[in-house]
Formats: sequence, structure tokens, C-alpha cells
Amino acid sequence: MSRNAYIVGTGHNVPDGVLTNADLEKIVDTTDEWIVKMTGIKERRKTDDSTATSDLVTVAVKNAIEMAGWEPEDVQGIIVGTVTPDYYFPSTAAIVADKLGMKNIPAYDFEAGCTAFIYGLVQAKAFIESGMMDRMIIVGADCLTKITNWTDRSSCILFGDGAGAVAVSSEGPGGRLGGWHWGSDGSMGKHLFQPAGGSKKPASHETVDNMEHTIHMNGARIFKYAVRTMHDSCMEALKMDGTEKKDVDLLVSHQANLRIIDATARALELKPEQVYINIQKYGNTSAATIPMALDEAVRDNTIKETSTVVLAAFGAGLTWGGMILHW
Ligand code: ACO
Repeated sequence: MSRNAYIVGTGHNVPDGVLTNADLEKIVDTTDEWIVKMTGIKERRKTDDSTATSDLVTVAVKNAIEMAGWEPEDVQGIIVGTVTPDYYFPSTAAIVADKLGMKNIPAYDFEAGCTAFIYGLVQAKAFIESGMMDRMIIVGADCLTKITNWTDRSSCILFGDGAGAVAVSSEGPGGRLGGWHWGSDGSMGKHLFQPAGGSKKPASHETVDNMEHTIHMNGARIFKYAVRTMHDSCMEALKMDGTEKKDVDLLVSHQANLRIIDATARALELKPEQVYINIQKYGNTSAATIPMALDEAVRDNTIKETSTVVLAAFGAGLTWGGMILHW
């Protein structure tokens, strides 16, 4: 008998600190009006100096396993998609597993920019449908404000911090992981990257002085690519799933820019009420946007027992991906 993978628990967590557009007006030459019109963002959350990605993830995972009705010892593996781990090593996943008392299980981080959560779900599907695992945790989490250049008005207005997690099981009921699509184009990587801190350009006084440990972004290039790849990912995932556009109930896409979400929704011929949007509250939290929105949509009953949900994302790499969930 063929096995399926189901999302049986969701959780998210954001820091308490709120950074409004009015706050940003005091830091860079911008206006609330420009930010809302160009991005849809009104405010975002920002961690304080003592809070790391693992702190946000720990609470998000706790919430997800509580909804699933699991104990920490039920979890057989945890993977965290992030570009802002606590350290290069050890992994944030291992830190969180230790904090939550998940002993001796595989725990690792991986990186696919803002697409990481979808890459994580594809991995969960493979692990669970192949019979390698029965219960695992997939996380998308980032503290992008830690690597934001607060003098660059075209990027600093976009980003916020957050974490989202799902518990994935071989046993339903829940959101069954259906058709999927994932891809990348490294030739476009230069348009969204952190120049220094890796083996190519290790940290030095010079790299710090040149702000090379922050996000460098060509917003206009990314924007065009995002609109195309998000649409293509949705269509490929729907095709694999055998589902038509008219049968989609809800789009939960990466929250990078309201205009990108709107373009994806238009391509899928969805009505406004079929699109989950929370970018106004959190900005772009990178790998966390989709699991955070998914958790909100589950808890406020936007996602119902029979919902067909499309997930779509793009991000650094460049990467992209989509997945269909059947509740
Ligand atoms: N306030 C006021 N004016 C601004 C601001 C600002 N914060 N930022 C830029 N401008 C100005 C520019 O200087 C430019 O002025 P000019 O015409 O006089 O030169 C004008 O606004 C237009 O700038 P563009 O950069 O061309 O504007 P664009 O339409 O591309 O919008 C934006 C910019 C919102 C950043 C958009 O490009 C975008 O959202 N791109 C996608 C970025 C993204 O999603 N990145 C994350 C990827 S996911 C991940 O992995 C993190």
C-alpha cells in the first residue's frame, strides 16, 4: 500500500519588537506611503541582540508538536531551512532538538533562501513516503534583520524576523503533501547575496567596513524573476498533482512583496479571498513566510477540512518551488 505524508501540526513564532514604517522613516530616506504602495508592508518584527534564530524556532516547533499531539520523543528527525543560522556550526536544528529534549535524532540545517520551506516539505515527503521516517519536523526560519544593511533604503524596508514549523506524519488526517516542483538558477545568484563571511571571502576588517556581511539585492531583477518562477512552480505542481486551477481553494505564497503575490494570484485566476496575506504585519521573513502564514490560516480556519492549498516561493540561489496540499 502506498504511503502518504500529512501535515498534522503547525506553529510559528515572531519576536515582540515591532519596527513600523514610521520607525524606518527616521532611519532612511523613505515614506510609509512608498513602502505600502510598493510592497504592502506596514510593519515587521525585529529580534533584540540576545535573541537568535534557534530561540524563535524552539517556540514554533513546540507549538507544532503540541497541535500534532506529539511528545518531543515522538519526533524522528528535524530539519531547519535558514540563511541566518545561530552559527555556521553546530546546526540550528541540533540546538533546537537539544533544547526540546529530542535525543539522538538526525538534525540538520539546509539553505535555499526564501524557498527553503518548500524544499523542506519535498524532503519530508521523500523521507516519509519512502518509509524512512514516520514523524518529522520541517522548519523555515530567519532573522534577516541581523544581516540587513540599515543604510540601503531599497532593501532594509523589506525584511523581518520569524519562524514557522510543521509536524509531518505518515498518518493523517491533515494536509496531505501532493504534487510539487523545485528548481534553481545559480547564474542569477549574484542578484541576491551576502558577499562575505563564507569561504570565498572570509570575514576581515575590510569586509565589515564595506558592509559585505549584509544582504545585497538587485530588487528589480529579482522581482521579474519571482513573478515568472512563482507562476511556473504553481503550474508544474498542479500538473503533477492532477489538479486544475479552478479546484484551488487557497494560495499561501512567499510573502516578499504584495505585488508579486497579486501577480501570482492573477495567473491562478484566484479571487482576493483565496489568497492568504500577512505581509503587512511581518514583511519578508524569508524561509519563515510560508509556514507562518500556513499556521495562521490553519488556526483561524481559513484552511478547512477539505481545502486544496497551493504553496509557492522563490528566493536566493536563485531558487523556486511549489507544492499542493490537500486537507
Ligand atoms: N523609499 C523611497 N524610494 C525608494 C525606496 C524607499 N524605501 N527604495 C527605492 N526607492 C526609489 C529608488 O531610488 C528609485 O528611485 P529613482 O527612480 O529616482 O531612481 C525608485 O524608488 C524605484 O526603485 P526600484 O528599485 O526600481 O523600484 P522597484 O519597483 O523595483 O521596487 C522593490 C523596489 C520594492 C525592492 C522591488 O524591487 C522588490 O520588491 N523586489 C523583490 C525583492 C525581493 O523580493 N527580495 C527578496 C527575495 S527573497 C530572499 O531570499 C530574501
